[in-house]
Amino acid sequence: MSTTARTVLAVATVFVLLCATASAKTSAGAALYDLDCASCHGQTLAGRSGMGPSLRGVGAGPVDFYLSTGRMPLQDPRDEPTRSPPLLNARQRSAVTSFISSFGGPPAPSADPQAGNLSAGQHLFTSDCAGCHQVVARGGLTVGADVPDLRAPSARQIAEAVRMGPYLMPRFGPRQLSQRQLDSLVRYVLWTRRPDNAGGWSIDNLGPIPEGIIAWLLGMAVLALIARLIGERTDA
Ligand code: HEC
Ligand code: HEC
Repeated sequence: MSTTARTVLAVATVFVLLCATASAKTSAGAALYDLDCASCHGQTLAGRSGMGPSLRGVGAGPVDFYLSTGRMPLQDPRDEPTRSPPLLNARQRSAVTSFISSFGGPPAPSADPQAGNLSAGQHLFTSDCAGCHQVVARGGLTVGADVPDLRAPSARQIAEAVRMGPYLMPRFGPRQLSQRQLDSLVRYVLWTRRPDNAGGWSIDNLGPIPEGIIAWLLGMAVLALIARLIGERTDA
């Protein structure tokens, strides 16, 4: 057999194995879906009235978000989905996600906080998110919903939440927020958890405004001192 033929054969074998693995994963996902999700979302993912919306074309992001934050499966379709320990392990979640994504939809969003800009992120968070989540990202209440504290979600879950808008939260598509802005937002949310590690000066985590006021007061005191010293010298 020629080297070319051998290479072609090897590539074909790898391809067939990959396809077989992917379809085994999808069918494991189908079985889990039947067990845990079909009662509300329907056997064919088309949704059931009064129980759950259609999942055709939702894509990987919302599925990964809802499963990895333990929000799905819901106990009762009227409950607000809330963060809880996930029912499915990481392998099962990935199988269900690939099964549901096989019905179409966009790939899961992601974020690279390192590529973002902290002060741009703070600015965006203040205008788009703080109304519900508070500037320090510690959650609160809005009409008809509990707004979660943002200390738990991972960078990926934050990106997924922003792009899908779970429950009463609005969704922010790429036209409202570019990938770069999303990176900055995620960087800010992660920063609110340990502000003193970011190299800033933490005054009991009071936030950037009191810190700014204290820095300003100190700056004014130093300026006043310098002005006095200069004044004394001209007097002499
Ligand atoms: C008791 C009924 C129930 C069960 C069981 C359930 N869901 Fe849901 N699901 C809902 C309801 C109701 C919503 C809409 C929540 C809302 O208001 O945002 C929903 C929303 C979703 C969404 C968001 C859809 C969108 O368009 O944004 C996803 C994804 C989802 N469910 C996945 C799952 C998966 C995967 C399972 C199985 C592991 C599951 N659900 C089990 C009732 C259920
Ligand atoms: C109108 C109020 C509102 C606004 C504005 C809003 N959110 Fe939310 N957010 C919510 C609610 C309500 C939930 C809980 C949804 C649920 O439980 O399914 C939530 C959930 C989340 C979660 C999931 C938290 C977790 O523990 O899993 C993240 C992350 C998040 N929001 C980030 C943001 C960011 C970033 C912005 C700004 C771009 C934003 N939100 C704007 C109301 C809001």
